[in-house]
Amino acid sequence: MSKIWYPYAQMKNLDVQYKILKAKGTCLYLDNGEKLIDAISSWWCVIHGYNHPEITRSAKQQLDKMAHVMLGGLTHNPACSLAAKLVEITPYKLKHVFFADSGSVGVEVALKMAVQYWHNMNQPQKHKFLAFKKAYHGDTCGVMSISDPDDGMHTLFKDIIAENYFLDAPEHGYPAKEKYLVTDLEKLDDFLRNHHYELAAFIVEPLMQAAGGFNFYSAEYLKEAGKLCDKYNVLLIFDEVATGFGRTGTLFAADQTKTSPDIMILGKGLSAGYTGISATLASTEIFESFYGPDESNAFMHGPTFMGNPLACAIALKSIEIFERDQYLAKISKIESVLKKELFKISSAKIKNIRVLGATGVIEVKEKSSLAGIQEFAVKNGIWLRPFGNYVYTMPPYIIEAKELKMITETLSKFFKRL
Ligand SMILES: Cc1ncc(COP(=O)(O)O)c(C=O)c1O
Repeated sequence: MSKIWYPYAQMKNLDVQYKILKAKGTCLYLDNGEKLIDAISSWWCVIHGYNHPEITRSAKQQLDKMAHVMLGGLTHNPACSLAAKLVEITPYKLKHVFFADSGSVGVEVALKMAVQYWHNMNQPQKHKFLAFKKAYHGDTCGVMSISDPDDGMHTLFKDIIAENYFLDAPEHGYPAKEKYLVTDLEKLDDFLRNHHYELAAFIVEPLMQAAGGFNFYSAEYLKEAGKLCDKYNVLLIFDEVATGFGRTGTLFAADQTKTSPDIMILGKGLSAGYTGISATLASTEIFESFYGPDESNAFMHGPTFMGNPLACAIALKSIEIFERDQYLAKISKIESVLKKELFKISSAKIKNIRVLGATGVIEVKEKSSLAGIQEFAVKNGIWLRPFGNYVYTMPPYIIEAKELKMITETLSKFFKRL
């Protein structure tokens, strides 16, 4: 029996056959001498591909200074510079950064911040959250309570975790037609009108619900949702763990919504997949509610590895390269190729094909249609990991046109065989 307990799998049925010896650029190198193009950027984080020479050099330089030091009562340049950079590049309300070590913990931090903000504002009854059905915000207990309670993978825990509210996710694609927007926004308006007194925040994955089923929805919706949250005095939280750093075509999905959330969470691409780090950014209004002479207003959170200098140095270099090498143009090219090539694929088994930024998704009618697709892709030199009714690609942004073609052709060939 395996000593490693692998994720999201029945261990009895699991046979992990692929052992990676090294990774470079877009490719994973296996112990059997084969190489695979990683079409999903190691769960969407390896935005510069693997072992980018400049990032690796920065990591080594930082290691020579210090790999780690606690952020409790101490500070250091990599954390100070990264906080300043994140405040500079994120939406206008966000001015303060709380570091943690993973996306899930970053979202937990956001939830705690929102609840305590209302407590500090003498409205402790505002401690519930509104989230979307199909949402996925991570695997820890607090975030399970704002992830889809029925169709998500955490249904088992439904009755023992905090009870929150869920709204039907807007399902009319990106961008949505005016008439659908109106109905979706009416539902939100109704809900906020009836529940604002008990709501701390509305939390969303902006533009793209990722692991809950790759639902793309309109920037207009979020723009108007921001206004409604202001009207009803409910905080707006953007979980950009998956969408941040270019995945939907702009640096942040928030950039397309022309609104600023009160809290935003970054993870995954923040460290370009080198190491675990997340950042929860908050507005000055939130920060100031914790600020003052009263110790009991302090934010009682502090993961051991928060602001880890190695992770911060890596994140700074990653952002520098992203800006310097015009990654948004690269992402736009990836989007064009994905649209051109994926939209050509046709099969009676397919329900929908959609592309947004550097994300391409094929949704099938029956999950069984995707049986064998991972083995088929590996035979064609591609690493894919479908789930449920979805097979998708979220390639590293450094991918060459011919490599991207290999991914789309592999998908095309798979569906032709069915
Ligand atoms: C939107 C979103 N939030 C949070 C998380 C959790 O991040 P992590 O796996 O780093 O804990 C994920 C992971 O896929 C995610 O997609």
